[in-house]
Amino acid sequence: MRIQLETQPYASVETEALVTYAFDRDGKFEGALAEINLAMGGRLASLAESGEFAGKPLELVLIHFPEGLAARRLLLVGAGKPGKFAIADLRKIAGTALRQLKSRGVKNFAFLAREGETSPAAAQAVVEGLIAGDFESDKYRTEKKNREIESVSLAGFNQGLGSNLDAAIANGRVIAESQNFARDLINEPSNRLVPRMLAARAEEMAREAGLKIEILDERKIAELKMGALMGVAQGSVEPPRMIVVRYEPENPRPGGPVLGLVGKAVTFDTGGISIKPADNMEKMKYDMGGGATMLGVMRALASLKPSVPVIAIVPATENMPGGRAQKPGDVQVAMSGKTIEIINTDAEGRLILADGICYARKLGCTHLIDAATLTGAIQVALGSVHVGAFGTPREYLDRFLESAVAAGEKMWPMPMDDDYEEMIKSNIADIRNTGSGKGGGAITAAWFLKEFAEDVPWVHLDIAATCWVDEGRPWLAKGPTGVAIRSIIDFALKM
Ligand code: BES
Ligand code: ZN
Ligand code: ZN
Repeated sequence: MRIQLETQPYASVETEALVTYAFDRDGKFEGALAEINLAMGGRLASLAESGEFAGKPLELVLIHFPEGLAARRLLLVGAGKPGKFAIADLRKIAGTALRQLKSRGVKNFAFLAREGETSPAAAQAVVEGLIAGDFESDKYRTEKKNREIESVSLAGFNQGLGSNLDAAIANGRVIAESQNFARDLINEPSNRLVPRMLAARAEEMAREAGLKIEILDERKIAELKMGALMGVAQGSVEPPRMIVVRYEPENPRPGGPVLGLVGKAVTFDTGGISIKPADNMEKMKYDMGGGATMLGVMRALASLKPSVPVIAIVPATENMPGGRAQKPGDVQVAMSGKTIEIINTDAEGRLILADGICYARKLGCTHLIDAATLTGAIQVALGSVHVGAFGTPREYLDRFLESAVAAGEKMWPMPMDDDYEEMIKSNIADIRNTGSGKGGGAITAAWFLKEFAEDVPWVHLDIAATCWVDEGRPWLAKGPTGVAIRSIIDFALKM
């Protein structure tokens, strides 16, 4: 999909569709929309009057052969009340418009910016919305719908002196394409993405992006005594991998911070010996969503070039109930030397992350973020709306949450009180891999990770309920969402 700046005034753009958005202003139109309404003899106002289009969030109206415009169609997207509007809404509006027009076979259109939202940041959000909205999970369909948006032009943005529109468009593209890169990995069936293949895909990405990469195989993993990762992997015939991708800035500050991004990549989670029920088990191919998230972030950072060094650490394995599988009651020794009593082999994500976090610290990371499809409990706590965000110290988590707001991703802070730590004490080892007592499953899982992050500033994102959507949204296809990628990118750039 080509995206370029429009040089013509909006009314004379010859295109299959001109897209813009309208606020819910009780039938009143301002700026360009007032002009369009006038040229159309008040037709917009009458649509509002009849209640057909009031400007409610993501409401749509498509008008053919609009008078006064060179475009063949005018697509208006509702933007809600002007006071509640934020740049994040532009992403949804752009994505919704694209998906709507694509489903109607349109191949090119123009997106008209509105008064007050013509900044480079607004243009970037529109580009992100368009490219993320364009993603479709049709890779394995032999008969594709053959619908494609070929080009979009951006009209009405402020092309004045010093306005860095071109850079904003390029950045928006790299961010959304990296999000789609991760979504494509998350979609892969587990027979087409065993840990070795995930590592190969990461290598290919690193080569193209110009990042350093190292893949630790099962021998190296054993040599480094990553006993928690090996414990999970031993039930599978597929060997585990530890994927390490590095971004180094041109002039790193000596003694400066190093950001470590640890992502859970269980390419399929059967639950192991504590096996999962058959219903919905097919979804467990997306249990590598955290790892894909971090690879997507690295792909973007290679172009966006933050000033801090960043290392992504992605432990990758299957969780299978093979003849050599670990069993409930087993004790494993993690890389850090801590002993872990395995209560439930289905709580495997925290095990592989334990060694991932330990290794990140060994590689010199001073600040950590992990992302993982870690617990079903986070869905009980927050539904599929917010990502569960944990972390210590609190100021570090708060800084991260500011990036989530800036990126327009919903995340909610979760408690990390010491009381929960009691719940992961083991009778025979240092810790157990599930919480004793009732409830708080997402928090005891986070506490387990903290036992390995210790006092290093650390954020944990539980994306189990948000990394995948069963229902499509108007602006996003159903399936993998690519959530958290934009927030982590924003955080790395501001660090
Ligand atoms: N991969 C799952 C968590 C998950 C659940 C991800 C639903 C996506 C959707 C994780 O490994 C798991 O099985 N967690 C258990 C932990 C329990 C045994 C303490 C869970 O949440 O039930
Ligand atoms: Zn599990
Ligand atoms: Zn899992």
